[in-house]
Parts: sequence; C-alpha cells; structure tokens
Amino acid sequence: MQETQVEMTVFEAILARRCVRNYTERVVDLGAIHILLEAAIHGPTALHEEPWTFAIIRDKELLKDISDYAKPLFAGELQIAGRAPGSFTEPDFNIFYDASTLILICSKQTGSCVAADCWLAAENLMLAACAMKLGSCVIGAALTALNTPDIKVKLNIPEEFSIIVPIILGYPNGETPPTRRKKPVIITLTS
Ligand SMILES: Cc1cc2nc3c(=O)[nH]c(=O)nc-3n(C[C@H](O)[C@H](O)[C@H](O)COP(=O)(O)O)c2cc1C
Repeated sequence: MQETQVEMTVFEAILARRCVRNYTERVVDLGAIHILLEAAIHGPTALHEEPWTFAIIRDKELLKDISDYAKPLFAGELQIAGRAPGSFTEPDFNIFYDASTLILICSKQTGSCVAADCWLAAENLMLAACAMKLGSCVIGAALTALNTPDIKVKLNIPEEFSIIVPIILGYPNGETPPTRRKKPVIITLTS
C-alpha cells in the first residue's frame, strides 16, 4: 500500500469520489500514476481488446497553453448549443484548474465498444485515485482541442490516435462538497 493510500471499500470509494477543481501545488509522482494506470487497465474490455493507450502530461506551462487553445473552441461549442460561455471566455480561467497532471486515455482502434472500454478504465482510475487521496476530474471541455492535429503534435500523439477521456489529477486543496443525485428511475422490475 502506498503512503497516501487509505483503507476504503469499493462502495466507500464510489461515494467519496468527487470531481475536484482546486488543487495544491504538490506534484503527483510517477509511482502513483503507474498504480492508477494499473487500476485503469483492469477495467472490463469488450472482446478483451484492451484498446487503451495513455498519455501523461505533467508540464503545467504546456497545460496552460492547451487550456488557452481549448477555451475559445469550447466557448464556440457552447454558443452553438445556445448556452452561455461561462468561465470559458475569462482570460485567467484554466480549463484544467491548474492541476499538475493530465492523463489522456486514447485509442487508435475504432470498434463500437472502444469508447466504452476507455470510459470504464477512466472510472477505475478515478476510484483508485480517490482511494489514494488524489483528486480527479474529467475535462470533456478540452476534448475538441485535444483531438486537433496542432495539439496532438504538441503532445507527441500520433494522428491516428483519438483522445477519448481527459482526466486531471492532483492533490485536493480542501474538501469538495458532495454533489446531488436524482434517485434511480426504474422503468421495469420483474420478479
Ligand atoms: C463526460 C464528462 C465530461 C465532463 N467535463 C467536465 C469539464 O469539462 N469540466 C469540469 O469541470 N467538469 C467536467 N465533468 C465533471 C462533471 O461536471 C461532474 O462529474 C458532475 O458535476 C458531478 O460531480 P461529481 O463527479 O463530483 O459527483 C465532466 C464529467 C463527465 C462524465
């Protein structure tokens, strides 16, 4: 068990996981990242394809550059959807919330279950992060930018790979309050 790991049942981790948007300066070491990748690759995978590949970005300047590139793209997407741009037009807003690490789950495969595999790996990774007192958050707002040729070149990601899940990672700066959930809606319950 790592220094930062806490004893937690799976169900406790599911309930404790939060999307964290406020991080300390503490950098996540590579040992911890490898443990998280181990959790990720143990997710279920259709036809046992294991289609995932990972990119790990720990350069905060680079993350800031990508954030600046991504914000207007996402603000445009919000506009098309008829939604307000929110913080995405604010010069100081960092789409990655100044987290020290961004993990990208990528794939060059195109099967119908590839995205599902990658998202299941993502949830494993985020639950494991929670059990290691790390915060995480999916950053869907960066997806369009991350999949542009410009950004792939910057990240040394070959063109044939798609970035499917971007997850920021870091040590939480304070508590993140729990979010509300609707009750599960059951449309059929057979005996
Ligand atoms: C596909 C997906 C995309 C998301 N994109 C963003 C994002 O771009 N920025 C962000 O701050 N949170 C993002 N989130 C996090 C959600 O806002 C968050 O999961 C939700 O508000 C519930 O909060 P909780 O995860 O702490 O329970 C995303 C979550 C998912 C599943």
